[in-house]
Amino acid sequence: MRVARRITDLPPYVFAETGKKLEELKGQGVDVINLGIGSPDLPPPWAVIDALYQSALQPSNHGYAGYYGLPALRRAIADYYQRRFDVHLDPDKEVAVLIGSKEGLFNVSLAFVDPGEVALIPDPCYPTYGLGTLMAGGVRYSLPLREEEDFLPVLDAIPADVADAAKILWLNYPNNPTSAVADLEFLSRAVNLASRHDLLLCYDNPYCDLTFDGYRPPSILQIAGAKKVALEFNSLSKTYNMAGWRVGMAVGSAEAVEALARVKTNIDSGIFRPIQDAAIAALTGEQTWLTERNLAYQRRRDAVLEFLPGLGLTARVPKAAMYVWARIPEDAGQNSQDFCMRTLEKTGIWLTPGSSFGDHGEGYVRIALTLPEEQLREVGRRLGRGHQ
Ligand SMILES: Cc1ncc(COP(=O)(O)O)c(C=O)c1O
Repeated sequence: MRVARRITDLPPYVFAETGKKLEELKGQGVDVINLGIGSPDLPPPWAVIDALYQSALQPSNHGYAGYYGLPALRRAIADYYQRRFDVHLDPDKEVAVLIGSKEGLFNVSLAFVDPGEVALIPDPCYPTYGLGTLMAGGVRYSLPLREEEDFLPVLDAIPADVADAAKILWLNYPNNPTSAVADLEFLSRAVNLASRHDLLLCYDNPYCDLTFDGYRPPSILQIAGAKKVALEFNSLSKTYNMAGWRVGMAVGSAEAVEALARVKTNIDSGIFRPIQDAAIAALTGEQTWLTERNLAYQRRRDAVLEFLPGLGLTARVPKAAMYVWARIPEDAGQNSQDFCMRTLEKTGIWLTPGSSFGDHGEGYVRIALTLPEEQLREVGRRLGRGHQ
């Protein structure tokens, strides 16, 4: 049998591969501390779990739940955008319900990119933007994210002919992996660029409610005219600790929502009804617990920043997202993959090599804040005891 060329060209999903390697090491008795993966370790509120249970008790809730998401869920999403960002959305035309945002981030390339067409993609970035482009037969034009530019792409540096030829501009703030944030002024310039060059601006915003020190990230849809050019992706995974449940959304341009739905209705058959009922409970329920939850992440961030010198790393203090993006010392004489392997061997601590997110991630590692504070403090003690 011969697999398709698009598969032979496809690198293995980096987190799936390292997951296997770490399990092997654990099997050999190594006490692995995995700071590599961005999966929330805390549960959603009890009311969300209860809504799932109550809905699953209904015999009529086990069939196909419809292609477009329950009207009540689309309404809850629109209400959330109104409340959180003062952005008005038409739940019937400007909201698509996704099986986790990763699904939509992938499928949108099938809806907008033809073979040989260009997508403007930040480097480093969440890998799905590039993989969707690749699977659609498209071509990536990289937008480097550099520390000296606050990990924002230099929009003016994109040649006009490239911007004219491109179909999609990808942006993600608060950013994975760098944790950088973008202000309304930058978002406004991005909307302007997309308008001038007839681009779909895909804005990935799953960390908008996972923030520190009182910071409140904006939505791209707050920018005047954004709805004509932008599709914002969001997710219940990080905001509500529901990563395994697989519920996300794409909101904004009605034309883009319709195109994405056309792809999706031919590929999937919607989300299990009890999960949608639980998502409604998450979006419409008590939100005050998020403050405490974010404080827990903030304490983890501070614990990580404290032990960085023990690993020879330096980092900016993140305002949002669940990562510390740390620089490897220049005199380390090794790339990020080697640095992470050596750290794993010496300390049992696994960090994600920055190069997993693109060439411009080289020289950095990503540390996820997905372990309890006490465990992170223990990492500090381990390093303090001279394991580095
Ligand atoms: C930037 C970014 N976008 C999207 C996702 C995918 O989230 P979801 O669970 O909604 O598929 C992640 C997950 O880590 C992410 O970091």
